[in-house]
Amino acid sequence: MTRHRTTNNTSDLSSEGDVNLSPRRKRWEAEHLGPETRAILAEDAKHFLHQSLSTPCFNALRSASGIWLEDIEGRRIMDFHGNSVHQVGHGHPHVVAAAKRALDTLPFSPRRFTNEYAVRLAAKIVSQAPGDLDKILFAPGGTEAIGIALKLARIATGRHKTVSMWDAFHGASLDAISVGGEALFRRGVGPLLPGTEHVPPCDPRACRFGCGGSCDARCAEYVEYVLGKEEDVAAVVVETVRSTDVQVPPPAYYETLRRACDRHGALLILDEIPICLGRTGTMFAFERYGIVPDMVVIGKGLGGGVFPMAALIARGHLDVAADRALGHYTHEKSSVGCAAALATIEVIESEGLLDRAVALGGRALERLRAMQLRLPAIVDVRGVGLLLAIELAHPELADQVLYRCLARGLSFKVGQGNVIVLAPPLVIEEVDLDSALAIVDEEIAQASAC
Ligand SMILES: Cc1ncc(COP(=O)(O)O)c(C=O)c1O
Repeated sequence: MTRHRTTNNTSDLSSEGDVNLSPRRKRWEAEHLGPETRAILAEDAKHFLHQSLSTPCFNALRSASGIWLEDIEGRRIMDFHGNSVHQVGHGHPHVVAAAKRALDTLPFSPRRFTNEYAVRLAAKIVSQAPGDLDKILFAPGGTEAIGIALKLARIATGRHKTVSMWDAFHGASLDAISVGGEALFRRGVGPLLPGTEHVPPCDPRACRFGCGGSCDARCAEYVEYVLGKEEDVAAVVVETVRSTDVQVPPPAYYETLRRACDRHGALLILDEIPICLGRTGTMFAFERYGIVPDMVVIGKGLGGGVFPMAALIARGHLDVAADRALGHYTHEKSSVGCAAALATIEVIESEGLLDRAVALGGRALERLRAMQLRLPAIVDVRGVGLLLAIELAHPELADQVLYRCLARGLSFKVGQGNVIVLAPPLVIEEVDLDSALAIVDEEIAQASAC
């Protein structure tokens, strides 16, 4: 029997989030956790399969509300991570009430039936989607919705190849990691899907085409080159804005990709699972680019942080698989999930969260730029809406800053090893955002002085 080797080398596993093997994490636990938390963590570690990015966990929660998490020792933590489900904050009363109403009346809707929640949600989403993105399929998670998109692209084009980006994340299943580009997920699991070609992403600071930090869309032109050489690519799959380290391509990037796909008969599939519904200041992140993809996948916050919900939205002419099973997931038209999602969109509209993301995000980015001028440890800051990134000089520093901030009640994700990603709920008050940024500012200053 082949034995799987675990690795304690965290340096080459930087990716989707902070890995849970850091020695600093162990020290944090020793300093901050009491016996009750230790007991629950020990039980967690005993029962759950261990895996990077979750078990062993580092703390245990008792409640979540608005921008706050509370651990079982009563420590309050601002959640700027939220696994990207928290656009409307945790447990928004409107969302919870809608989910409860559905639970009381129609807790489950077997797939051969439809229900009003699902139909209203479908109509609502496609009415907001630009262009002819007017057909939809729900799924119980983003990964599954990506899988549906890949299948539909194969069926619609009669081709099977994809072109996607190194360092991208599209979910954890075998098909999703085949188009994804992160070693943490791909390494050591055997053969992945055939025909999944990868190209360098738009990442100006590490540009393979030498753009020197200011993207000139040569990376997109290279996609066109690959499409021309391969000739039979079904789809180009890309995260509109890569959320692990907040890479925001310029408009020329998407203009070039769209043109290249059209020329070569490939579909353009955008993954907006963690950044949909207002995170970047628009309902769909691609709206800022003035292009319409052939398919867009949304998820995470769609379920309002209370129910797993995702959706594939496709252009009408791609409705070509009536005789196949594209999704076929048990909770495909979940009445509870759809009620929660409808309520979530209502909150985004009634509380003006798109404008809020733009206004608060713009101010926060200004502040990060000022921090960068003062703190040499910051090599770059980026942002769009309330999706903000601080790129630090090295992963060691990012790890230090993470645990320092956690000790002061602020949680966020570290992406690609050295990038602090700040994604507060869009309902956050300015005063709370300011105090979170002050914590980050002080802790970067302190950590880099050590
Ligand atoms: C860009 C992106 N795509 C796909 C997924 C997978 O979504 P899910 O975890 O809901 O399966 C994620 C999750 O983090 C993501 O960030």
